[in-house]
Amino acid sequence: MKIPYPDIVLAMARYDAGDPKRIQHALKVFGFASVIGEREGFPPEMLAALRTAAILHDIGIHNCEKKYGSAAGKYQEKEGPPVARALLAPFGLPEKLTERVCFLIAHHHTYAGIDGPDYQALIEADLLVNLYEDGASPEQTLAAGRKYFRTPTGRALLSAAGGARSGPPFRAQKIAGPVWRDS
Ligand SMILES: [Fe+2]
Repeated sequence: MKIPYPDIVLAMARYDAGDPKRIQHALKVFGFASVIGEREGFPPEMLAALRTAAILHDIGIHNCEKKYGSAAGKYQEKEGPPVARALLAPFGLPEKLTERVCFLIAHHHTYAGIDGPDYQALIEADLLVNLYEDGASPEQTLAAGRKYFRTPTGRALLSAAGGARSGPPFRAQKIAGPVWRDS
């Protein structure tokens, strides 16, 4: 089935209306996730789960702030899936896809137990954006790359576009450890 990404983006933007920083964050993660998933040759269902989850991964933030006064990852993972499910309902997506999207949203701050390339790619895409938005140093970016980045595309993007808004140009080519290969 053709996934209506533009309409899902619009639903996310309307839900987060008045919070341009978060809307733009979600679109950046969507962009990086799409590049990683497509370039790594993810099959269509996996790519659909990744891209949809990327748009909605932080959708629980507002409820977290209201309920707990905190946007901590563990609260987001709890509050995100019900909102995502409600936003996705009008699009009539396959239940299996919605389930996987909600699982990814519920785990996107959990770096242990990564169970598939879509999960890995979402972690990498979110980190690519967060390291930059948080002004990570070259050292912090390289450390995150070594610890969390497994896909060749994610590593290449981190080398070119990750972290370090100031200071010397960052290059992360020295990332060691296994590279994710699913096929
Ligand atoms: Fe995020």
